[in-house]
Amino acid sequence: MVVTSPVHIEAELLARRRHADHLFELEFRVNRAVAGARPGQFVMLGPIGELALDPFLCRPFSIYRADGEKLSLLVAVVGRGTRLLLEIEPPARLGMLGPLGNGFRVPAAAREIVLVAGGLGVAPLAFLAERLARQGRSVLLVVGVRSAAGLPPLRWLVERGVQVEVASEDGSRGRRGTAIDVLGRLLAGRQLPADSTYLAGCGPRAMLQALHRLTKQRGWQVEVSLENRMACGTGACLGCTLQLAGGENARVCREGPVFAAGEVFL
Ligand SMILES: Cc1cc2nc3c(=O)[nH]c(=O)nc-3n(C[C@H](O)[C@H](O)[C@H](O)COP(=O)(O)OP(=O)(O)OC[C@H]3O[C@@H](n4cnc5c(N)ncnc54)[C@H](O)[C@@H]3O)c2cc1C
Ligand code: FES
Repeated sequence: MVVTSPVHIEAELLARRRHADHLFELEFRVNRAVAGARPGQFVMLGPIGELALDPFLCRPFSIYRADGEKLSLLVAVVGRGTRLLLEIEPPARLGMLGPLGNGFRVPAAAREIVLVAGGLGVAPLAFLAERLARQGRSVLLVVGVRSAAGLPPLRWLVERGVQVEVASEDGSRGRRGTAIDVLGRLLAGRQLPADSTYLAGCGPRAMLQALHRLTKQRGWQVEVSLENRMACGTGACLGCTLQLAGGENARVCREGPVFAAGEVFL
């Protein structure tokens, strides 16, 4: 595996596309070091110059697409930092540190790939799905949202050969239910061999725990990508530390954000 060291750059914001009321895609021109990110890695993003003092800290975002020297993030308005970031009009320059974190570790032998996203968890999994489909692997991506209004564009993945199933809690798009309900129905009766099947999930912690419960008896390799509040993103401040199932501590930004599901949940 090629490991790219994180670098601090001024990324050029090329475009800001609104996909839903509170959901935007930010497209940047970056350098090769950042564009060489692996799926599951993230960047810390923040304003530069005078604006950088308020809010003071950069915010972490998963890489959603990377192609050549272009990189996109899918950003939802959550609080003050994201609201201010999304008010910046392109063209503009923003501070970016990355790529950070470990990324997904898909075994070379895995041919059947099942990815489960809850809400914004779709960002790193879309990137992973696209890369794996490009390698000719069979990829099923289940995307769970409350309603169709929260969905990012998914057609580009379908065009690249990814099987996309949408689960909406209000039934406004795809199958009614949560991502885990729909996954359970899709997996029922399917005999996926342990040595060539890989699953990954990203989304709310309760969803990841349900994914672990649903799959732990099957012998598949399952990874989950976690989130926590982050200050430095590089392992220095310990602010993102959480306790794993075995009692040991891990920094989400450094040892993660991707962990084996069995490391996180009993
Ligand atoms: C590895 C990683 C990848 C991420 N990828 C994405 C992504 O692709 N797209 C995206 O939109 N967001 C992503 N996030 C979350 C994003 O970083 C936060 O939404 C953002 O930092 C919020 O900043 P803010 O100033 O707007 O909100 P704040 O004002 O800082 O917080 C607003 C509210 O959101 C809560 N909150 C903020 N950050 C988090 C968090 N990380 N986990 C749980 N609760 C939180 C706060 O407790 C508070 O209640 C990711 C986070 C991590 C750690
Ligand atoms: S954010 Fe500082 S150690 Fe993880």
